[in-house]
Amino acid sequence: MSSIVDDTSVNLSVNLGKIQLKNPVMPASGTFGYGEEFADFINLNDLGAVIVKGTTLRPRLGSFQHRLVEIPGGSLCSIGIQNVGVDRFIADKLPYLRQFRVPVIVNIAGESVEEFARVTEILSKAEGVSGIEINISCPNVKKGGMHFGVDPDATFAVVRAVRNATDLTVMPKLTPNVTDITAFARACEEAGADAISLINGFVGMSIDVNSKRSRLGKNLTGGVTGPCIKPLALRLVWQVAQVVNVPVVGIGGITSAEDALEFILAGACAVEVGTYNLVDPWVMIEIIDGIRSYLMEKKISGLNAIRGTFEA
Ligand SMILES: Cc1cc2nc3c(=O)[nH]c(=O)nc-3n(C[C@H](O)[C@H](O)[C@H](O)COP(=O)(O)O)c2cc1C
Repeated sequence: MSSIVDDTSVNLSVNLGKIQLKNPVMPASGTFGYGEEFADFINLNDLGAVIVKGTTLRPRLGSFQHRLVEIPGGSLCSIGIQNVGVDRFIADKLPYLRQFRVPVIVNIAGESVEEFARVTEILSKAEGVSGIEINISCPNVKKGGMHFGVDPDATFAVVRAVRNATDLTVMPKLTPNVTDITAFARACEEAGADAISLINGFVGMSIDVNSKRSRLGKNLTGGVTGPCIKPLALRLVWQVAQVVNVPVVGIGGITSAEDALEFILAGACAVEVGTYNLVDPWVMIEIIDGIRSYLMEKKISGLNAIRGTFEA
């Protein structure tokens, strides 16, 4: 498929805090490595931004085996935020990304508010980082392992600490595993978020009926991702976009331009593509081309004209 990503007759640019994206399509953290892994397939300059693997203060080995199983319409995974740690990210991974003219957003994780703040401080001093996406779907070790993202006060505390630690664009990423996601979106906005992304995976499980054990081994449960979650994610993004004033980034099961456009009509200003990168490494380029074609066909000059125009 020939790419028309450089066609300038339609304006696909959007702003996320201080970051200007040339188009609204980015990889979801953890499904695109550190960018280099996909560079044989696509030109990273064609993306709205590159969002890298979840990064913690120290390197992490991640979960036990098995980490990822296919399920109908998606995947179930427990990676346990395996990553090289913030210092090696800056020393070994960031220099490669600096050669591109694409904003780099670092997804961060931590076991305490202090860890989130420290990782942010370190990243803020590194050349070539434009934004921080906060993965709040992590256990708060000081609060008995309860995830930050399922407690509005803990969500507020993490986002505020990251906000105070940086002038970069701050984008908390919400978990869907809560009763009322709008309360969490409001807490993020009050704490000073520049944008909000959603969603991370739904907690799920899969049992091998012969061994009577989890298909994820000792991990027992994992995050459900991929096309099967798209209608659930779309509804949550629509809900959140109605209650906050900051830009909302839609994530969950996106595989095509039509999927991405659904999120934009529901109020998202940009999207992240996750699991489907593992199926089709060119999918994000096809989505950018498809969004552009849609706007050209409908004679619409820019994305702002369609964002949130879903008629309820
Ligand atoms: C293999 C894998 C690794 C992931 N790692 C991270 C991560 O490090 N940090 C994070 O915030 N989300 C992580 N996620 C969640 C994705 O970024 C995304 O929110 C989720 O997969 C839903 O999008 P999708 O349905 O398009 O995959 C991971 C997902 C997968 C499948």
